[in-house]
Amino acid sequence: MNLDDLLENVSVIGAAGKMGSGISTLIAQEIAGLKIKNPEKVYRLNLIDVNEAGIDGLRTYIKTQLIKIAEKTIVALRQAYDSREDLVENQDVIDAYVDEALGVLRFDTDMNLARNSGLVFEAIIENQDLKTDILKQLRQICPDNALFLTNTSSIPIGFLDEQAGLQGRIIGYHFYNPPIVQKLVEVISAENTRPELKQLGDELGKRLRKKLIPSNDIAGFIGNGHFSRDGLLGVSELMKLKHEHSFPESVYIINRITQDFLVRPMGIFQLIDYVGIDVFQSILRVMKKHLNNPELHSDLIDLLMEKNIRGGQRADGSQKDGFFQYEKNRLTGIYDLEQEAYVDIESLETGLDKKIGELPQEYLPWKKLVSNPDREALLSGYFKKLQESEGLGAELAVNFLRQTKKIGENLIEDGVAENKKDVNDVLMNGFYWLYGPINEYV
Ligand SMILES: NC(=O)c1ccc[n+]([C@@H]2O[C@H](COP(=O)([O-])OP(=O)(O)OC[C@H]3O[C@@H](n4cnc5c(N)ncnc54)[C@H](O)[C@@H]3O)[C@@H](O)[C@H]2O)c1
Repeated sequence: MNLDDLLENVSVIGAAGKMGSGISTLIAQEIAGLKIKNPEKVYRLNLIDVNEAGIDGLRTYIKTQLIKIAEKTIVALRQAYDSREDLVENQDVIDAYVDEALGVLRFDTDMNLARNSGLVFEAIIENQDLKTDILKQLRQICPDNALFLTNTSSIPIGFLDEQAGLQGRIIGYHFYNPPIVQKLVEVISAENTRPELKQLGDELGKRLRKKLIPSNDIAGFIGNGHFSRDGLLGVSELMKLKHEHSFPESVYIINRITQDFLVRPMGIFQLIDYVGIDVFQSILRVMKKHLNNPELHSDLIDLLMEKNIRGGQRADGSQKDGFFQYEKNRLTGIYDLEQEAYVDIESLETGLDKKIGELPQEYLPWKKLVSNPDREALLSGYFKKLQESEGLGAELAVNFLRQTKKIGENLIEDGVAENKKDVNDVLMNGFYWLYGPINEYV
């Protein structure tokens, strides 16, 4: 089956969500390109979500994104519309393109809208019963040869395939957030996944200009396989500190170590807040169940959830409170489990920074290194000095670096990743790390 033919009728389920809206925009862009080349053909992109208000927002979101895309690609668009003499000004071309793309969209809360789709993207919430149920419904509604790409970030594809009776017509196509910007897509074939679907995934990735990295079909895959264990490592290090420090102090220390001392874009607890403590908990649950590993669990995360401390993002992208309290996405407080309230971060900072100790002089923050061509050498020099340094911060950081490397190596040993490069690429692209966990620094 050829990708151009399949793109004639596509559906996205969970289209109004964070991932669904990005995937919808990418596919709308792709279909608009085909429509310009084949104006006589009828194309449909069906955007389905149970959230009515979300669908209204989606309409506006896609339109805004398409205008931006058209503005950025105006030269190529002018060429594509070469034969349209009525399009004189750039604005005429942009309007024509956006109209073209919006014209193929159909929005509904009703799954039946997907009935003619040969290609279906599933991006509903990470709940395996719900995903199974939706995929089963889609199997009955869609044509017998329809192909499914699921955005699950942790549920084994083989399990979804078997539960929904799709007989190999499903592949894991794990976009990262936000799908329009993030180059990485983790691709997960189950044992049963049909070869033509794998080829199709490869071709789609090329067209969308994504960096495809294969992961084996083991719960959590590479991305969450590493993130979940790194998060649990952060929690266990926090618990060790709790003997000598209060809860907010321990959170501060481990977060600062994992951000500044490890030169990451954010500390581990800020990252868990960003992803959502609820999402982190559900990833752990899925992995614990499928891997039959009781260690993939955290009492602390469960306790925070009981107290309704959940993190995550609001619809406008602003950060909700979790381990940290946020004002305009700046960290202002740290949750105190005993007081059940946030304590002011400034009241702790100075004293704790003294205890943590100085960073080596070679230190440069993540922001300064991210586009520095010499960053590998700079990082190597920095980590060498870090290992020679004394003090609580250096000691905790070097230990964390070693353990996080082990987590990466275990992903290969456990057969999740084929090699070191795939593990490092996922962390560097999907999580914006400057270096892979499997490195020569320790
Ligand atoms: N958010 C991320 O950073 C991220 C990254 C990679 C992968 N993922 C995965 O992508 C998927 C979606 O995550 P998200 O963050 O976009 O979630 P989200 O909560 O933002 O969106 C989920 C959408 O699904 C819709 N939905 C729920 N039940 C539905 C149903 N029965 N029928 C139709 N629509 C339904 C919701 O209304 C919502 O709009 C999950 O599998 C998640 O694990 C998320």
